Amino acid sequence: MPADPRPRRVSMPEKGGPVLVEGPVEVELDDGTLVRSDRFLVALCTCRRSADYPFCDTSHRRRVRS
Ligand code: FES
Repeated sequence: MPADPRPRRVSMPEKGGPVLVEGPVEVELDDGTLVRSDRFLVALCTCRRSADYPFCDTSHRRRVRS
């Protein structure tokens, strides 16, 4: 199989937001579990508040009441 000549693109997040990665991707979790997404663009959670971790569910946008 010929290599894809185009490098895979990763977009760095705004502070507290997700990292955007061109899919499909496999993500290895801390415990070695592999999770896969076949989406065209995958948002990876960096805030660890997602109920769908390691994928972003937009929980980073919600503010905690004080
Ligand atoms: S970055 Fe979006 S929920 Fe964590």
